[in-house]
Amino acid sequence: MKILVTAGSTREPLDPVRYLTNRSSGKMGYALANAGAQLGHHVTLVSGPTNLDIPINVDYVPVQTAQEMFEAVSVHIAGTDAAIFSAAVADYRPASFAENKIKKSEDRVTLELIRNADILGSARAEFSYEGVLVGFAAETENLEENARGKLQRKDCDLVVANDVSRAGIGFDSDHNEVLLVYPDRTDALPVETKDHLAHLIVQAVQELRIRKG
Ligand code: PMT
Repeated sequence: MKILVTAGSTREPLDPVRYLTNRSSGKMGYALANAGAQLGHHVTLVSGPTNLDIPINVDYVPVQTAQEMFEAVSVHIAGTDAAIFSAAVADYRPASFAENKIKKSEDRVTLELIRNADILGSARAEFSYEGVLVGFAAETENLEENARGKLQRKDCDLVVANDVSRAGIGFDSDHNEVLLVYPDRTDALPVETKDHLAHLIVQAVQELRIRKG
């Protein structure tokens, strides 16, 4: 299979020294890219900035902002059999970019933000994607219910849901605990290393691909 993976966070610049971002070490996404390559697939990894080594045997496409990630995905998703969206994309960006460092002046400032494109949500609607579509859901409450909402709204085949309010799993950790939320059922995977879970997720994607024909 040809698989596209998004990983890491995006950075939305405010001035030359400051940006808005989301939490994400990139570990979950890089584990997915590594698992895909180890299972014999051709993997394209579209990644925001991380401190991780670039996985071997994958095509690596570095990006900074959500807009750059959107553009990279719009190009590289074509011709893939499956796309796994594990990146923590900033939903908003500053309305303007200051060419020079913003100076301290007022005690309180107001930042105007503009909505970024929903990249996963654009897959079917805008990129006319017909491959296996896998989203992630990073939730702090109502894990399964919120993930199922994302599955339906974004027309995914699978949403991998993780509770990012719990210590020891989710962000930054080498471990995670996830629900695999399908249109007709939910499978709970117990706490495991992200590497192990990534292999199970790629295997689930392989099965979805076979079922889709
Ligand atoms: O990187 P780690 O430290 O290992 O942490 C892993 C993780 C917690 C970041 C990862 O497991 C995870 O949950 N990734 C998704 C984070 C997220 O932003 O989730 P969300 O529920 O806000 O977004 C839902 C889905 O839409 C995700 O597939 C996301 O990639 C996608 N999305 C969101 C916003 C946007 N503008 N474009 C998108 O494609």
